Amino acid sequence: MVNFVFPGVMGVSPRMQEVQRLLELVAPAEATVLLLGETGTGKELAAQAIHLNSPRGQGPFVLVNCAALPETLLESELFGHEKGAFTGATARKQGRFLLAHQGSLFLDEIGELKPVTQAKILRVLQSREFEPLGSNRTVKVDVRIIAATNRDLQAMVHAGSFRDDLYFRLNVFPVHLPPLRERQEDLPLLADHFLRHFAEKYRREVTAMAPEALLAFQNYPWPGNIRELANVLEWSVIVCQGRTLHLQDLPGHLQRYAWAPAAAEGEPTLAELERQLIIRTLEKMGHDRGQAAAVLGIPLEELNLKMRTYGLEG
Ligand SMILES: Nc1ncnc2c1ncn2[C@@H]1O[C@H](COP(=O)(O)OP(=O)(O)O)[C@@H](O)[C@H]1O
Ligand SMILES: [Mg+2]
Repeated sequence: MVNFVFPGVMGVSPRMQEVQRLLELVAPAEATVLLLGETGTGKELAAQAIHLNSPRGQGPFVLVNCAALPETLLESELFGHEKGAFTGATARKQGRFLLAHQGSLFLDEIGELKPVTQAKILRVLQSREFEPLGSNRTVKVDVRIIAATNRDLQAMVHAGSFRDDLYFRLNVFPVHLPPLRERQEDLPLLADHFLRHFAEKYRREVTAMAPEALLAFQNYPWPGNIRELANVLEWSVIVCQGRTLHLQDLPGHLQRYAWAPAAAEGEPTLAELERQLIIRTLEKMGHDRGQAAAVLGIPLEELNLKMRTYGLEG
């Protein structure tokens, strides 16, 4: 495809270049796509990209968060219901499968589906047909399915909590969105994107990041991935008073990560790693040596000895 549209920053890392290649290939192909990755890695954005770059791009993009609704409501959300189908069904309601007709349906957090709903969704995926609740009318739809989960579906299949037939229907074209810590090359680009965004939103002067702030970003593991990165930059832009975002503008838990990269030439010594680990553990435990020793799995006396050895006393 000549003009692949991605509603965000794609990044320069080999991992994201590969993701882009796969999205470009599958978008026009109509195949069911399964987006896998930790929370905040951009699965929803990738789903939008698939839709936008497909022949259905002008049609509806309908999202269903399978984790957000209780089972009973989820079925009527998906398939719709007739007036009077159940207590409280005061009017007829169109389901999301129908709303997505000639467009794409994004089934987010698919790993949270209960077995009953798994069975019903399987049937729609097989036949593109369903009956609204309280109706014996069969509705036919033309939808492209994009699903996403942060769970290990294969492990769930082995454990018996996810139907294998549904898994195989969904797992036609899996795409893995890598966690942020595995694509550090993209941090400057992404950080700059959110820096500009929030500087404009909050009318701040800040245009750049100090090297030590970027260093902290590169060392931090980002468990919440890009969502967390955006939150951190929103905080930091609000706090920052000048044109450059410094380490002290970052949330406290990130400031601790601005240690120098381990020996540029060759590997760091074991002693240096141990020293850094002790410093970090002490900081994490609020300088409570007893707790730090417990976390490190050594007796308190040994921690005291190591601290003297590494010049960390006083
Ligand atoms: N590549 C990206 N470029 C810009 N923003 C991104 C990117 N990936 C994710 N985001 C933003 O990060 C947040 C989380 O992304 P989302 O797609 O909802 O992740 P997931 O569905 O995997 O939890 C959203 O606010 C989204 O706009
Ligand atoms: Mg999501």
